[in-house]
Amino acid sequence: MSCKLKAIVAVCDDWGIGRAGDMVVANRADMRHFVRCTKGRTVIMGRKTLESFPGGSPLKDRRNIVLTRDASFAREGVEVVHSVDEALAAVAGEEEAWVIGGAEVYRQLLPACSEAVVTKNHCMREADAYFPNLDEDPAWRVASTDGGYVIEPGEGDAGVAYEFVTYEQASARAEDDDSLAGAVAAAALVDVVFDGFL
Ligand SMILES: NC(=O)c1ccc[n+]([C@@H]2O[C@H](COP(=O)([O-])OP(=O)(O)OC[C@H]3O[C@@H](n4cnc5c(N)ncnc54)[C@H](OP(=O)(O)O)[C@@H]3O)[C@@H](O)[C@H]2O)c1
Repeated sequence: MSCKLKAIVAVCDDWGIGRAGDMVVANRADMRHFVRCTKGRTVIMGRKTLESFPGGSPLKDRRNIVLTRDASFAREGVEVVHSVDEALAAVAGEEEAWVIGGAEVYRQLLPACSEAVVTKNHCMREADAYFPNLDEDPAWRVASTDGGYVIEPGEGDAGVAYEFVTYEQASARAEDDDSLAGAVAAAALVDVVFDGFL
């Protein structure tokens, strides 16, 4: 069985993604894009990202897999896993699954992703959580860009320009149809150490 693993993230110009447990740019069009991509699919997230959702509740109409090291953690509507390998094994039978953050989880699962769907909000915000800069990583290349948008009044941080950029990972392209075992191996190499729309 092979599972196409993809990351989805919204970044600022310095690849900042969050501050004090929250997102840093309000962009409702991006939220709709996020829902379009992930609805009906499986999402993998860190426990802190789950806590950032309203009421700490899982995303509706999606299979929610949450990573935590807390053996006693339980939340209604959530499948709990305790390691990257366990997360990858949980999606092995899926056609596609989405890594939705946050920083710690992106860092560990990105090597197993074949694609990263990045909303680039062209602004700077104070941040304490970052996504790896894919423009500086030779393993990744831009596959497509859909740009020229501006956040409209009433849709969040009005006036901020943004674009959707899809990156592909070279190694994943080469392995395209490989089983998830390859992804598990890649992940093992790493240092394992919203509002109404959601
Ligand atoms: N802009 C975006 O697109 C976007 C998307 C998502 C999140 N964010 C932002 O990112 C920030 C949160 O990121 P974060 O890095 O602080 O937290 P995170 O990645 O959401 O969650 C980290 C937690 O996940 C668990 N975890 C991580 N690796 C694990 C492993 N290998 N095995 C078992 N459990 C593991 C641990 O939970 P325990 O502590 O329970 O053990 C850890 O504390 C927030 O500001 C959020 O708003 C932004």
